[in-house]
Amino acid sequence: MSRLVYILNGPNLNLLGKRQPHIYGHETMADVERDCRALAAELKLDVVFHQSNREYEIIDWIHEARETACGIVINPAAFTHTSVAVLDALNTFDHPVIEVHISNVHKREEFRHKSFVSLRADGVIAGCGTLGYQLGLRRIAQLVALGG
Ligand code: DQA
Repeated sequence: MSRLVYILNGPNLNLLGKRQPHIYGHETMADVERDCRALAAELKLDVVFHQSNREYEIIDWIHEARETACGIVINPAAFTHTSVAVLDALNTFDHPVIEVHISNVHKREEFRHKSFVSLRADGVIAGCGTLGYQLGLRRIAQLVALGG
């Protein structure tokens, strides 16, 4: 059984730490990646970590994960609220998917309350800051152990 988890990040998250820090905090994507890799080592998981501003790259990585991964942790960023294509790609993936949002999208503008990705996600974490990624990884580890 694969122990590989894809951690995927959508548009503008490359600016994490610089972008609206009152909403998204001061940690950078590099910090998130470092913390995820440290936790993954503890959980005996391997990690592929990507960020892109391009929808097709996110979709291509989901297709890649289909062949190799036991789970996906995804912060689709703005694609959450717009992308049927990302949802369709996730619907081709047969293992656990955890959706992560750094901010509490439900406390924000109404257009952020709708998530296409939630129609597929096995779990959704929002408003826990960048810790949400680690919670997502832990949940994948648990579901994989349960045979998910
Ligand atoms: C986000 C929330 C989205 O609404 C927003 O478009 C993002 C980041 C979050 O992590 O809180 O870019 O996914």
